[in-house]
Amino acid sequence: MPLVPPYIESLQPYKAGKPIAEVQRELGLQKVVKLASNENPLGSSPLAIEQLRHEMTHLHYYPNGGYDLRGVLAEKFNLKIENVITGSGSEGIISNIIRTFLCDEDEVLTTEGAFIGFQVLARSRGVAYRTVPYRKWHYDLPALAEQINEHTKIIYLANPNNPTGTIFSKQEFDAFYKRVPERVLIILDEAYFEYARDNPIYPDSMHYRYDNVITLRTFSKIYGLAGVRIGYGFAHENLISNLHKVKLPFEPSSLAQAAGIGALRDKEFLHRSLEVNSRGLAFLTNSLRELELDVVPSEANFVMVTREREEDAMTMYNELLKLGVIIRPLKAFGLPNCVRITIGTDEENRFLLDGLKKVLSKTLV
Ligand SMILES: Cc1ncc(COP(=O)(O)O)c(C=O)c1O
Repeated sequence: MPLVPPYIESLQPYKAGKPIAEVQRELGLQKVVKLASNENPLGSSPLAIEQLRHEMTHLHYYPNGGYDLRGVLAEKFNLKIENVITGSGSEGIISNIIRTFLCDEDEVLTTEGAFIGFQVLARSRGVAYRTVPYRKWHYDLPALAEQINEHTKIIYLANPNNPTGTIFSKQEFDAFYKRVPERVLIILDEAYFEYARDNPIYPDSMHYRYDNVITLRTFSKIYGLAGVRIGYGFAHENLISNLHKVKLPFEPSSLAQAAGIGALRDKEFLHRSLEVNSRGLAFLTNSLRELELDVVPSEANFVMVTREREEDAMTMYNELLKLGVIIRPLKAFGLPNCVRITIGTDEENRFLLDGLKKVLSKTLV
């Protein structure tokens, strides 16, 4: 038996969007705009930072495992604290779900080209990872239901989905849910929920709770706290209590918890972020289409652009990089002819567009 299991040996590690400093150093550029990782272009919630500063005088104490933030979330969403978990980003919670519930013979089921963070975490467990193709860049929920078998243990659905930005409706989810056996756990990843929640067809999972669904959300996106690693989940208390057995005892850190508590009070930052995003999303979607690019209609803080060939997508990525704009090629997701662009500030969106016009005129001649 080899020291490293074959499924780890062959695993491609999670590769995050390129950092700004790295591009500045490598290409000798002063101005670099990062539109690669769906971060908040306005920075972090000021109330989160204030709470974080306050917490800095208590760092000699161990954290309390997210207890305070769980209490705040339970109150906000009218749940018991036993229904709430917090963790090091929603990915931290996904990792705990995988460790808690999966046995060797179990299978994971999701869409092709799913969020890369989930793909890597699921594959690292060495169980069968099965997918069904998108239908017009949407989850094909009927096809997913069709694929459930006696080994299926976890179904992963991101709504809005990363990287397509599309959503499924409440009606679609209800029809799907009826076909899922109770022994199958559905992860409903709502990392981008705030961007979609005002859409009347969006199934805000807090409005209904099922015993085999765990909802995951994060402070990384709309609250601009990706760097502190704080996310949360809601589920039946039985699921949550088992997750608590497996989670690292002190996770999340006191700073992360404090930032989350501050962020939840920051209505002003939330609204400003939504406003900048919806303006930028409309502007970029229209402008990219004027350049005759295929843009998938998005309900999140990014858009996916589909190109004819992998080569077109990579040229677009590489040439924009030289001009100081970092976008995300999606080959690692399993979508080699696609790129994903995060919505920036008005100024960043224009900078991207100017760059793109140069790139397209250069590559078309
Ligand atoms: C669908 C989805 N889920 C989860 C995450 C990770 O969130 P967190 O920073 O809370 O781990 C992301 C981040 O890009 C995402 O797109």
